[in-house]
Amino acid sequence: MSTLTASKTGKEEILKNNLEHTIFSWSKQSGLNPINAEHAKGVYVYDRSGKRYLDFTSQLMNVNIGHGDQRVTDAVVKQMQEVSYVNPGMATEARGLLGKKLAEITPGTLNRTFFTNGGTEAIEHAIKTARLVTGRHKIITLYQSYHGATYGALSAGGDPRGIPHDSQGVPNIIHVENPYFYRCPWDSKTEEGCCDNAVAHMERIIKYEGVNSVAAILMEGESGSSGCIKYPKGYWKKVKALADKYGILTICDEVMSGFGRTGKWFGIDHHGVEPDMLCMAKGITSGYIPLGGVIMSEKIATHFNDKPLPIGLTYSAHAVACAAANEVIKIYEEDSLIENAANMGHYVDKQVEKLKDKHPSIGDFRNTGLLGCIELVKNRKTKEPMAPWNAAPNEMEIMNKVAAKISELGMYTFVRWNWIFIAPPLIITKDQIDEGLDIISKAISIADGHCN
Ligand SMILES: Cc1ncc(COP(=O)(O)O)c(C=O)c1O
Repeated sequence: MSTLTASKTGKEEILKNNLEHTIFSWSKQSGLNPINAEHAKGVYVYDRSGKRYLDFTSQLMNVNIGHGDQRVTDAVVKQMQEVSYVNPGMATEARGLLGKKLAEITPGTLNRTFFTNGGTEAIEHAIKTARLVTGRHKIITLYQSYHGATYGALSAGGDPRGIPHDSQGVPNIIHVENPYFYRCPWDSKTEEGCCDNAVAHMERIIKYEGVNSVAAILMEGESGSSGCIKYPKGYWKKVKALADKYGILTICDEVMSGFGRTGKWFGIDHHGVEPDMLCMAKGITSGYIPLGGVIMSEKIATHFNDKPLPIGLTYSAHAVACAAANEVIKIYEEDSLIENAANMGHYVDKQVEKLKDKHPSIGDFRNTGLLGCIELVKNRKTKEPMAPWNAAPNEMEIMNKVAAKISELGMYTFVRWNWIFIAPPLIITKDQIDEGLDIISKAISIADGHCN
């Protein structure tokens, strides 16, 4: 029998094949016990023992329309029956339709998309494009951010997962502090003050680095896996004004915050700013097929009218991925999922507010639509975190217990240091949110016992 006929393989053998012959991302490879996924439907993933997990982070904040939507399968099959792949130098119906639709739903005059296989490549191509267009080399980004896993994108983020690679990191990335009001680096007393301090800090760094060497400022539309550090009101606008003042381009990373996740098409729509380039992935196909892209303003695209654009990928504008994206975008619209994300987001806000009364360990909750994160502390006054940022394994004892409880009670979500993420599929209902918050509440009770 072929070793590839997996459906006839026993669950232990499936796990063994995975663990012994594949590599798992971002983890110690020994001692892993991954969920052995059998199928997934709606907001639930089922393992091979029949256990159901409520998916409270849409996997990697990408399965926005929920799992197992037959409409996407049908669109993919139809596209494959017509044409699965042609050289990206050729035109296809799916690619053209998707390009046109993205120009409609992204802010302002953003108009032309270069398609990639995922978010990291979108960032890489945006950085290259910014450098080519401006003739400058430096890129300003935030320390507490993640932009992807290849050398350029990993260097661009300030996530500590990049530190083991940084001796070979990409040069000319300059990091600045986030406007993290809950733990304000300038000890600002108001959100507005934190915003102004952060912008003034960025301007100082730009001047130190030489205004004529800075090609772009790259920031997430709304902060995601780095702690949902919500931008204070006016921050993006002030950063854009700073960029314009010095002829610097803005690149908005909507890989996680895009496609309805925050209750609007894109995170930056909450801030009334039109960036020069916008990177996307994840929700563009809701994870059904890999796809990413960077959409740029006509002004940037026309830079390459008379000179060749020196970027390309074998799978750029893959017809099947584009067809999946067209269907997924249709689903966001037809099923009013972005409105649902906004409404359910308000419901989550209200319910977590109630949890704060019950759980002294909840220090902060930051959420936009359905992109949220609870921050656990040992003491609300001192804000001592339940586990520090970039915690060592021995500092994760309490949070590991919280995470284990969440999993035991039938939920899949991200627990990172002292953060618990809440980012379910946009199809979620109030009852399902209640189910999830009840699990989180039970798990947080463990942390409450360590408050002082
Ligand atoms: C904000 C942001 N940018 C970029 C990426 C990288 O995307 P990908 O993993 O699809 O390459 C991610 C992934 O989590 C992300 O959250």
